[in-house]
This record gives sequence, C-alpha cells and structure tokens, in this order.
Amino acid sequence: AHANIGVVGLAVMGSNLARNLASREGNTVAVFNRSYEKTADLIAEHPEAGFVPAQTYEEFAASLQKPRTAIIMVKAGAATDAVINALVEVFEPGDIIVDGGNAYFPDTIRREKAVRETGINFVGAGISGGEEGALHGPSIMPGGSDESWITLGPILRSIAAIAPEDGEPCVTHVGHDGAGHFVKMVHNGIEYADMQLIAEAYDLIRRGTGKSPAEIADIFAEWNTGELESYLIEITAEVLRQIDASTGKPLVDVILDQAGAKGTGAWTVQTALSLGVPVSGIAEATFARSLSSHPEQRDVAQTLPGPDEEFTVTDGDGFIEDVRRALYASKIVAYSQGFDEIRAGAAEYNWNIDLAAIAKIWRAGCIIRAQFLNRIADAYVENAELPVLMTAPYFVDALTRGQSAWRRVVATAAAAGIPAPAFSSSLAYYDGIRADRLPASLIQGQRDFFGAHTYKRIDRPGTFHTLWSGDRTEVEAEDTH
Ligand code: 6PG
Repeated sequence: AHANIGVVGLAVMGSNLARNLASREGNTVAVFNRSYEKTADLIAEHPEAGFVPAQTYEEFAASLQKPRTAIIMVKAGAATDAVINALVEVFEPGDIIVDGGNAYFPDTIRREKAVRETGINFVGAGISGGEEGALHGPSIMPGGSDESWITLGPILRSIAAIAPEDGEPCVTHVGHDGAGHFVKMVHNGIEYADMQLIAEAYDLIRRGTGKSPAEIADIFAEWNTGELESYLIEITAEVLRQIDASTGKPLVDVILDQAGAKGTGAWTVQTALSLGVPVSGIAEATFARSLSSHPEQRDVAQTLPGPDEEFTVTDGDGFIEDVRRALYASKIVAYSQGFDEIRAGAAEYNWNIDLAAIAKIWRAGCIIRAQFLNRIADAYVENAELPVLMTAPYFVDALTRGQSAWRRVVATAAAAGIPAPAFSSSLAYYDGIRADRLPASLIQGQRDFFGAHTYKRIDRPGTFHTLWSGDRTEVEAEDTH
C-alpha cells in the first residue's frame, strides 16, 4: 500500500484529475474503473504518471495507505451510490470517500450521514473547470468533516488552480456535509446568469448595430481587458469568431438556438425558492434556456406581433458602451443574488461558510473565474456580515456609474422587441431592493381581504385585520403571516 490518493471513474474528468494528481510532487495515485479496459488504456497512455492500477475494489483499497482517500468521478445519481457502497465495503473507519461529481447537495447530506455511521468520512466536493481545469488546476469546493480535511486539504491544495493575485490555491474547506456541493450548485447558477447576460449583450449589439459576429468578437475581446475581464467573456469572443467549415458562415449562425441544461441551474432556483431568496437573474437565465428549447411553441408564437417601428440605433458606439455598462451592472446583481443564496443556505443548514473565501477560490480554475471576484472577496473581508453584496462601496460606485446606461438598454430592448430577461429582471431587482416603499403593502391588504391573512402596521406593533365583509373597522388579530 503506497498510493496516498485514489481515483474511481476514469472517464475524461476522472482521468484528467488522476493525471493532475500524479503530476504533483508527493502524490502516488491509485486508479480504478468499473471496466478494467479504461484503466489499462490510461496507464498505457500515461506511463509517466506512475499510476497504481487496480482490477477490483479490494485491490484498490489494498493499494492505498491509511487513511485511505479516494475521489469518485462518476455520473451523479445511482452510479455514485453504487461506488460509495462498494467503497464502504472495503474501506475502514477514518478513511475518506470524496464525491467529486456534480451531486445535488441534499443527496450529499444524505450520503454523508449514512457513510458516517460506518466511521468512514464522506466528502462532497464541487469541482469546476471542465476537462482542462481537471487536468491543469480546477477550483475545488469540498464539504465534509474537519477530520477529513486534515488529510484531504494538502492533496487538494496540490492540484487546485492558483489565483494569480496572491498565489493561493483555489480550494477551501467550505463547510460540513453538503456545503461544498451547495456552493458548487450556486456557482453553476451564477454561471447560467453570466452566460445569459453575455448572450443578451451580444444579441442587442448585433440587432442594434448590425455588426457581424466577428466584429462583436472584437468588442468582447476589448471588454476582456477591462472590469468585465473573465473566462466567459474571453471564450465568447472565441466562439463568435469561429467560422463553420462546411458553410463558411459564422458558427454561431449555424448552431441550433436551443440551449441545453443538465440541471444544476434548476436546482439553484428550486433551492432559492424554498429558502425564499430572490435569485431572479439565475431564474431568468434558466427559464431562457427552457424557452429556447420548445420549438413547437416558438413556431406557433412567431405569429405574435412585435413593435411597429423598426429598431435602429443612431449612435452605435454609444449603444455598445451602454450595453457594456448594463452587462456589468446586471452581473453585479447576479453575483449579489448568488452570494445571498449561499448566505441563506449556510444559515439554514448550519454551515459556517466564509463568503470571502468562496469568492477567492472562484478567482481561478472555475468557469466563472474573473478579476471581478477580487472585488467580492474585498467586500466580504471588509464586512463578513454584509447583508447585500452590491451595497459594498465598490459596487455602489460601479452601479452609480452604470445605472443610467442600464435603464436605457432595458428600455431600448423593450421598445425594440428584443428579449433581455436577465438584463431587465436584474434592473427590477435593483430598483426593488433599493425602494423606500414597495407595493407589498397592497399585497398584504389583498391577502387580508380575501383570506383574513392579517397585516402589520408601520406605526405601531401588533397584527391586524380589517373586517372587510363587515363594517371595515380594524381589529387586533393573531399573527398568521
Ligand atoms: C464547471 C461547470 C460544469 C458544467 C455544468 C453545467 O463548473 O466546470 O459548471 O459543472 O459545465 O455541468 O452544465 P449545463 O450547462 O449542461 O447545465
């Protein structure tokens, strides 16, 4: 037994992660796959890695030094449960099983509880960065026990991406049991929102100015040198510049306009709904994908009328700059909402999550990596209890500079009949949360009218009900919410 870490599941993500582990000083990596063929291929292709192959779970366990530590990289769901059960059979108390897939965090909470009864540690770890990240340095979001972190911490730190600003590895012990997968889920929700905002910006510029995808690629490349600098902006420029080999057209024009989703965005929204956290940007992004994927509805809906007048932008450059500002402002809202969900999730599930540390480990390796995350980290370092992220001074400044452009863009989109659900819902959230009074008072009046749901008053404590079907006097009532 001389491997200090094992990997189970050798599809692309698993084998890349195993290669990454093997390339770091001090690691010897045991590998196992359900069918041995994949294991054989991997060791044949990468003799330099010094992998320790195993044909059975028993052999795999025997090849690992104690406490045995294994990272599972298989499909979320039943496949993950099957591997956990097999490992529990051959592992011993104190050993560590890590699920590196995109598991749904309630599953992780359930698994951690069940595995803990055997004395074995179970860690749900979110891993972001796709295939490249797995190979060269992902951002890693592990949950699980403090005990497991003692062994796992140094191993994960050895393979994580390095933040360019301070050389820190992009991994932190997020919190207990499902905290890591919870945070990875919200990461993906933010990813959805960011992607949708970028897509709306592209669409507005294209339809507003008539510029070609290649010209818009240059605009995004330029944006990537400023406050919007991020991986997603960078790859957007690359996708827009790509020409389709078979037709000679921009690739973006021949890709079917129906966006897929594997579920993490929907989980983020479902969880936010039950936590009562308005993640409207993420929700709109998720729904925009759903809307795009119903051709049978889109076909019949093409008969619906649009605006009478044609959409023309007179000052193209001014409009593009407005869109850039609107994008940045909306992005601030999306991240503010996402961090709000993490804060609320931590309170609900008793996780001690350091929001500054989360922003820091997203600075490199993951899909939403961006320079911008330094500003978020700064905000939470300054005030860990910040109730609304976008009220930190840096963001207030940015929103002050961007808000009039943002309003113009949303108004233009509405007048032109161009869907900008994430831009406009972000602005509505911004105006809602900063409002002195909201018409929620009227909602409370309506609820009291038809259901005697009661209301509170601004001028004195207590709970009240108006006798709507009687003489309409007000009475004190029991609090029913
Ligand atoms: C990452 C990505 C990764 C993946 C998701 C989203 O952090 O590396 O978020 O987890 O791209 O599965 O995929 P969908 O867009 O298919 O839902």
